[in-house]
Amino acid sequence: MKHKNIILTGFMGTGKSSVGKLLAERLGYQYCDLDALIVAAAGFSINEIFARHGEAHFRRIEAEMVRSIANRSGLVVATGGGAVLDPENRRQLRAVGFIVNLTAPAVEILKRLQEDNDRPLLKEGKTLEQIGAMLQEREPFYADADIRIDTTGKSVENVVAEIMRALAA
Ligand code: S3P
Repeated sequence: MKHKNIILTGFMGTGKSSVGKLLAERLGYQYCDLDALIVAAAGFSINEIFARHGEAHFRRIEAEMVRSIANRSGLVVATGGGAVLDPENRRQLRAVGFIVNLTAPAVEILKRLQEDNDRPLLKEGKTLEQIGAMLQEREPFYADADIRIDTTGKSVENVVAEIMRALAA
């Protein structure tokens, strides 16, 4: 096992979960979805956690879940889009694995998330401006990765193949 874990980062709608599942299958690693761990720990959906307890509470559970993978190996981890905002999370994630950042331009993200209602940070009338501003603000944190892959116009299969090539290099 060349890399202890593979960590997928990236904005909402960049394909972390679908790519993560197939990548895990190809590598014979276990797929781990940080958002799903948070929902399981809280006993509520992400929308409900934000609505009842606020974003800060969500970020505390998220940080706990990031810490919980510290001693594990053989995982492909899909992080939530905001997990890299916290410097301690970034340090932890860097320490446990190879970081793959998935990207897509704002216009593509808007297209992919147009009908989505499960992202509390993109609820009220999603706009290109809103997504663009968030992307810009987060760019330095997403850029802190071992490789970056623009997923626009690529199938999940293609993106996984690209990651596999990078891992083999
Ligand atoms: C968030 C992204 C979401 C989820 C939460 C907050 C963010 O995960 O963790 O809604 O701050 O970008 P996905 O990137 O899997 O949608």
